[in-house]
Amino acid sequence: MNHFLTISLLSLLLSHTTADDPIIRQVIPEQEQSIPLLNADHHFSLFKTKYAKSYSDQKEHDYRFSVFKSNLLRAKRNQLLDPSAEHGVTQFSDLTPEEFGQRYLGLRTPKVLQEAPNAPILPTGNLPQDFDWRDHGAVTGVKNQVSCGSCWSFSTTGALEGAHFLATGELVSLSEQQLVDCDHECDQDGDCDAGCNGGLMTSAFQYTIKAGGLEREKDYPYTGKDGKCKFDKTKVAASVANYSVVSIDEDQIAANLVKNGPLSVGINAAWMQTYIKGVSCPYICSKNRLDHGVLLVGYGAAGYAPIRLKEKPYWIIKNSWGENWGEHGYYKICRGQKYDTCGVDSMVSTVAAFHSA
Ligand SMILES: *[C@@H]1O[C@H](CO)[C@@H](O)[C@H](O)[C@H]1NC(C)=O
Repeated sequence: MNHFLTISLLSLLLSHTTADDPIIRQVIPEQEQSIPLLNADHHFSLFKTKYAKSYSDQKEHDYRFSVFKSNLLRAKRNQLLDPSAEHGVTQFSDLTPEEFGQRYLGLRTPKVLQEAPNAPILPTGNLPQDFDWRDHGAVTGVKNQVSCGSCWSFSTTGALEGAHFLATGELVSLSEQQLVDCDHECDQDGDCDAGCNGGLMTSAFQYTIKAGGLEREKDYPYTGKDGKCKFDKTKVAASVANYSVVSIDEDQIAANLVKNGPLSVGINAAWMQTYIKGVSCPYICSKNRLDHGVLLVGYGAAGYAPIRLKEKPYWIIKNSWGENWGEHGYYKICRGQKYDTCGVDSMVSTVAAFHSA
């Protein structure tokens, strides 16, 4: 990516004062001032090979190529508006944003967050500068929800896996499929967890309390499809003692993370379809459209952002799209902004596990 070009275009887009900077203007060749879509066929054939894509017929192939091209453009646009991350071709580049939303997200949006108790306010004076639960053995490997809107179940198991680890010292991978098949818990508006059609982490904690706990992943393996409930109470491996909603204050979020383990969070996934790596800090990302449930596992004080010429603090997010997406399955999103970037601070919950299941 040509950084000078990026600066210039961004400046134009945001009518920043640097648009008039003569030094910046000098180094940009005229022909680079529009966004060209070069070699789309070449990129598409690399994409098909890399992700082993095959399409049923020529018509489907051509349609997917047209979607791919518009996603290439979108990635370039996203790059300009999110310069501290890298955006480009991902495994989702042949899906329209609507298809992507249906198949790979799945957070239902509550009108109000269920009347869960608020987490107690914690002291924030001695928080570490950098913290990552992966370094302390509280996080299982990256999982893959495949084509099923069950993100919420992965966010739920991730938080309980961490809480169970803190309570028992044992890291056990827990069953999302149990939640997909068996959890039909409803919130006060009458919206209910619905497997591949979406759900909510706080409702899933509520279900888990009622059910008595979750089975292990290996006892109730993931299929990525809605199925009949096969929960066996004798196989419960981890149980929820209580759960609560964390305030939107970033220091409270960090304090709850460090004290209680990884946190369930809702996020606006608008920038994730094209995300490759880096700290995502888009100029525009509404907090009013939370559509993806993920797991907050840590934070860093400074991720390098060459364009903004300064280091950015960030959250470390475990996603559920496999290890081949993002940074080995993880996403970094900036924190410490005046606005709540992509709503990452808006729907945070923490769970505690019983010492024995
Ligand atoms: C939640 O449960 C844990 C573990 O049993 C307990 O230590 C903690 O005090 C509980 N928290 C709340 C808010 O009830």
